[in-house]
Amino acid sequence: MIQQFSHIAPLQNYLAEKINEGQEFSFVPTMGNLHEGHLSLARESLKDSRNSFCVFSIFVNPKQFGPKEDFHNYPSTIEEDIVKLSSLSKEMKKDILLFYPDNQQEIFPEGFATSITVDGLSKILCGKQRKNHFKGVTTVVYRLLILLKPHRTYMGLKDFQQQFLIKKMVKDLLLSSEIISLPTIREKSNLAMSSRNNYLTPQEREGEALCLYNTMLRVKHALENSSLSLKEKISLFNDEKEKTLGPHSKWQYLELLDSETLKNITSKTKTAQIFGAYLCGKTRLIDNMTIYLNP
Ligand code: PAJ
Repeated sequence: MIQQFSHIAPLQNYLAEKINEGQEFSFVPTMGNLHEGHLSLARESLKDSRNSFCVFSIFVNPKQFGPKEDFHNYPSTIEEDIVKLSSLSKEMKKDILLFYPDNQQEIFPEGFATSITVDGLSKILCGKQRKNHFKGVTTVVYRLLILLKPHRTYMGLKDFQQQFLIKKMVKDLLLSSEIISLPTIREKSNLAMSSRNNYLTPQEREGEALCLYNTMLRVKHALENSSLSLKEKISLFNDEKEKTLGPHSKWQYLELLDSETLKNITSKTKTAQIFGAYLCGKTRLIDNMTIYLNP
């Protein structure tokens, strides 16, 4: 069954009752316009017998959008989202509580003036182009974790930097929720599912939108199946950056970092992560892939 809450107080009362009964629950924060990537997080969380039910939030957080970004046009498909969540709840035979605040004050009351930043890590990769983006993300997720106190929070590796920052924030600020990261769900073409894929034209979707995945795969094969030195690996990777994406696309970044530290790779790096962001026409796409360097 799906139960809908647009206000935090009744949801908190409901959760308090369940916790008194000894139940534990999962949490999946999203901004809606749901696809299989979002649903996989709730599904996996409900497979865990420790989670009696899942709280699923849909809130388009204004604080994480820049002034020229798509906050006002962010796709909203709440009716379809509710249908998808209801059928997932039936499939999993567990309740989903949908938290869909009907106004921003529910999360950020009048006069709210505090923000949470994870220093350093918020300024690299996506943080370079999107100045206050991660400050907005960590602030809203902090607020949601404090309001709901979920036992486990599920996030996608599609947004690798985001889940990395949230884990760091949870550790530094001693929050009690365990953050569990789950694999990227892809379309048949291997394009990572994203709400922003709806902005792509059919031609872009089948063509230039796949460039990033193909580049990452090429780099992965070249680096994993070779006995190159660190210097040669870095130089091979840099050569890829010089290759053009396609006539209508433009790199924002393509970087190879140590997956554990998000710093430059060294000769000791076991797993590295390729991170890419680019504009495909007018649509900004991001993706990442793990590379096993020293198995
Ligand atoms: P949103 O983009 O809606 O994504 C919600 C969650 O779904 C995130 O954890 C994201 O990593 C995950 N997700 C998105 N696409 C995925 C895919 N293809 N495979 C697997 N997981 C995927 O990320 C946000 O919202 C916001 O920043 C939020 C955390 C809700 C804070 O506002």
